[in-house]
This record gives sequence, C-alpha cells and structure tokens, in this order.
Amino acid sequence: MSDVQPPALEVRNLQTHFETPHGIARSVDGVSFTLPTSHVLAVVGESGSGKSVLSRTIMRLTPKVNTKSSGEVLLSGVDLMKLREKDMRSIWADRLSMVFQDPMTALNPVMPVGDQISELLLRHKLVPKAELKTAAIAALASVGIPDPVARANQYPHELSGGMRQRVMIAIALAGNPELLIADEPTTALDVTIQAQIMTLLRQQQTQRRMSMILITHDLGIASAYADDLMVMYAGQVVERGPAAEVLRKPRSPYTEALRRSIPRLANPSHARLEVIPGRPPTMTDLPKGCRFAPRCRYAQDKCLTEVPGIEKETQTEHEYRCFYPVGTAANRGALALNLERGRTAAGLPVSQRLEKHAGQRSKEILL
Ligand SMILES: Nc1ncnc2c1ncn2[C@@H]1O[C@H](COP(=O)(O)OP(=O)(O)OP(=O)(O)O)[C@@H](O)[C@H]1O
Ligand code: SF4
Ligand SMILES: [Mg+2]
Repeated sequence: MSDVQPPALEVRNLQTHFETPHGIARSVDGVSFTLPTSHVLAVVGESGSGKSVLSRTIMRLTPKVNTKSSGEVLLSGVDLMKLREKDMRSIWADRLSMVFQDPMTALNPVMPVGDQISELLLRHKLVPKAELKTAAIAALASVGIPDPVARANQYPHELSGGMRQRVMIAIALAGNPELLIADEPTTALDVTIQAQIMTLLRQQQTQRRMSMILITHDLGIASAYADDLMVMYAGQVVERGPAAEVLRKPRSPYTEALRRSIPRLANPSHARLEVIPGRPPTMTDLPKGCRFAPRCRYAQDKCLTEVPGIEKETQTEHEYRCFYPVGTAANRGALALNLERGRTAAGLPVSQRLEKHAGQRSKEILL
C-alpha cells in the first residue's frame, strides 16, 4: 500500500447545473483543482461567477430540486459526492466546515451564542455533556472574544457585526475541521474589522494546520492571506496557481483586468477606479467560444468560435485558459491587430461595442 498522503481536497470536473425557466444555468461547469494540506486557496471572481455554488457543491448544500451535480470531491481521498446524506452530515463540523457571509442569517437569533456552540459539540459528540459549557466558553475565547463567560449568554443581536462573525468562526472551528470554507467572511464588515477577522482566520488556520478555501471578490485580501489563487469566470476556472505568481504574472486577460481594477494607494484620491468593461454573461446564455470574449481586449475570431482549454506551466503549477495569454508574443500580436483594426473580434467598432457593454467611461481601459 502507498504511504503517500492524498491532498486535503481534490476536485475533479465538478459541475452544478440548475434548471431554470430560462434554460440550464451552468453555474459550476467543469471545475478541477487540488488543495494541498494546510494550504489556503483563495477563489476570486466577479459576482455571479459561481464561487458560492462551488462551495455549496463541495459541502453538498445545493438545492435538492432542479439541480444536477456531478464530478468528484475527494476530501483526504474520500469522494463526498458519493456519500449518503446521513454520512455527509456526520462529517460537517469535525472534518469539513463553513463560515457564511452573513452571520445574522446563519446564526439562530433566539439562542444564546454559547448554547449554539454547545449544541454543535453535542450533536457531533465532540465533548462529554458535563464539559459542554466550558468547551463553548473556550471556543469563544479562542477567537478573541473578550469576557467569553458573559458573551456566551448573549443573543446574536446583542453583539456587534465583528463579534458575530467571530462567533460564526468559533462555531465553524469548534469541531476542529480539516478543511474550512469561508465564503466572503468579511464583506459585511468595515475595513479595520475585516483585517482583524482575516488575521484571526489565518492564525487559526496556521495553528490548526487546517486547509482553507477563502472565497472573496477582493484580490487584495487574496494576495495577503492565500497561498494559492483560483480565478473563476462564468462557472469555470480561468486561472490558478501560487497566489504571488498569478498576481505578478497573470496569463488570463480576465485576471489581468481584475488586477488592474484594484485601487492603488499611490493614486490621487480623485483617481477614477478602473473597471472591467461590460458584464459577465448570463449563465443560461453563455457565449459559444471563450466566455470572456465579449469583454476581452485581445479577443480574435478564434475566441468567438473555439473554447480554450486549460494550459499548464508545469514548473510553477500555474494554469490558465486562454488562446492569447498575457505576456506572450501571441497576446501582443492580438492587441496590435485589434488596435490596428479599430475593432474587437466581435466585429463591432470599439465605440459601438463599448456603448453596448460598458458605456463611454471604459473606453481608455479597453484599448
Ligand atoms: N438555485 C439556483 N438556481 C438557479 N441559478 C442559481 C441558483 N443558485 C445560484 N444560481 C446562479 O448561479 C450563478 C453563480 O452564483 P453564485 O452565487 O455562485 O455567484 P458568486 O460568484 O458567489 O457571486 P457573489 O460574489 O455575488 O456572491 C449566478 O448566475 C446565480 O444566479
Ligand atoms: S484572448 Fe481569447 S481566449 Fe483569451 S481570454 Fe480573451 S477571448 Fe478568451
Ligand atoms: Mg457568493
């Protein structure tokens, strides 16, 4: 028997499609990635790119009706997609856990927060009954909640947003999971509290040698707190690799555009934020070729008809989905051609296309 440890998580060709009145929404469409043990993977992408559906598919928390999921989700080698619901429930908390974006909807409003932790510990038989209260207080203390004895008796509405998110994290960590999925854990919080919560999550992840998937729309957070970065667009992975490498040398035009949209401190305060022109496609009506083509400044005719596959740079474990990767001669050639023609691969003059997809303000960003 091999003594090679499997990675913490391996996802292979994961799909979640929803049947809607407008057709099939391919919200997660062939996603594959590996998360080594004790690593943090940030998943970034614009709103609607499939980040939450991906995390819910891994947790097996997608709706039961009108939903089709397939593929493999191997947690330390065990395929979660094949588990019975009862067996899946038993691994939530002590092997796999999740922090949700909005603690107000995820916490029980009519139960003191200490009891919510005790209930979870009891349900999963993680602590003897007599020690439940002490364990709940210790869990609150471990996430930096001051005066945890008093706080344990308070209800969620009596706590600040930052404290509520700490309670959510205490609940998610109470079972000491191997893998934690944090879906936009700080978007509802102000910037100072955001930094405190992110530091707490990273500290806990390091101390527990836990693996973590951190979902965020903020590339700044991803670069500060993640080892690896995965960029999603319209249900697919468009780029993945070591976070520093992907951010230093993005290959996907979409990642490049996202990176350009991060506000820079050096910019004068009145500087306009650069945005990515246009909108992501509707999931029930995806473009035929590359899904980013209608918004891509490098797009060529090929991009409109052919679907780019994943390319790998084996030395750096960097992968991307693009026919004309950023930083290559092919990419420079594609941009030069588009500039020369004064039009995009969509065949419309730049001015018309911008009006259609983005409005005049984005003109200088595109070309
Ligand atoms: N139950 C559902 N039925 C139909 N479509 C759905 C369902 N759940 C999600 N979707 C669609 O799947 C797509 C991906 O949604 P998802 O919530 O994963 O986006 P996201 O990347 O998490 O966005 P955000 O950054 O806004 O949280 C969206 O177009 C959404 O409308
Ligand atoms: S260059 Fe083509 S393949 Fe690459 S992202 Fe743009 S449209 Fe897609
Ligand atoms: Mg989401």
